[in-house]
Amino acid sequence: MSQLSTVREVFNLELSPKFTASEIKLIYKTCASKRLNLSLTELMFAKDIDIQRHDTDYFQSIIDRLLANEPFQYIIGSTEFYGLELLCDKRALIPRPETEELVDWIVNSIDTNLPVKVADVCAGSGCIALALKSTLPLSIIHALEFSDNALSLIEENTSFTDLKLEILKFDALGTQYDSLESGYSIIVSNPPYIPLEDEILMHSNVLDHEPRMALFVENDSPFVFYKKISENGYKLLKDEGWIYYEVHENLAEGVKDIMSTNGFVNIEVRKDLQGKERMIRGQKLPSRHE
Ligand SMILES: C[S@@+](CC[C@H](N)C(=O)[O-])C[C@H]1O[C@@H](n2cnc3c(N)ncnc32)[C@H](O)[C@@H]1O
Repeated sequence: MSQLSTVREVFNLELSPKFTASEIKLIYKTCASKRLNLSLTELMFAKDIDIQRHDTDYFQSIIDRLLANEPFQYIIGSTEFYGLELLCDKRALIPRPETEELVDWIVNSIDTNLPVKVADVCAGSGCIALALKSTLPLSIIHALEFSDNALSLIEENTSFTDLKLEILKFDALGTQYDSLESGYSIIVSNPPYIPLEDEILMHSNVLDHEPRMALFVENDSPFVFYKKISENGYKLLKDEGWIYYEVHENLAEGVKDIMSTNGFVNIEVRKDLQGKERMIRGQKLPSRHE
């Protein structure tokens, strides 16, 4: 048996070659409060409590997995996204902070009390769809995704958060768009957009753990999802509806051209908090009545 203060010391000692002091603090607090079922305040005053062997084994296994480059969110099995706690594991991409910024842009651009119909194309864990549903309670949100693994995680996340989505297995590069009923106010997508040639620049905690299907596109067709979604999305949106995308930091101009070619107007690129061009939106024109 050891005390919680010793557990904290082991976290510091073993993780310090790889993580900053503030990262270790966050990792320790999250693990310890979850495992021991203590609030963060209770944790502060619990330094002297005795820790059972099975709990120290658990904490050591977390340290070992972190040292083996497994992402913390996958180890702990959950993550926070736009104020929601979501289940998170290797079935889908870990929701990213820049994607929260995309959600925030949408939420701040519409009247949240209106009933709107939204499609989240390439929904992954369901983070965008669920965050929108939590802030737009009257909305109908379609979460469209092709991976069976991701689809099962979205299902679990709807039960976990008690939020309702319409979930559909959907190939964003196929012809299923014809089966959707038009009239969407918003279509949003964070599709795969990393050219395969960028793989060598990426860290092993992403490459070895996150699904390749969520990340990569062929080098010669980095815009394949944006082309298909823009072309079909235009038809599916209602007049003056909006399409929102997350984009690769070097590809915003290319996506802008695709949107413009497909008829979108009022196209706006937005930088994320890191100052990178990571978000873009455009609007469908009202149809002309002669
Ligand atoms: C970059 S991830 C984004 C996931 C989630 N929207 C998010 O923001 O965290 C892209 C998602 O697209 C899905 N995907 C890949 N190819 C697809 C396809 N042809 N049709 C639909 N979804 C696809 C992947 O499974 C993955 O979940």
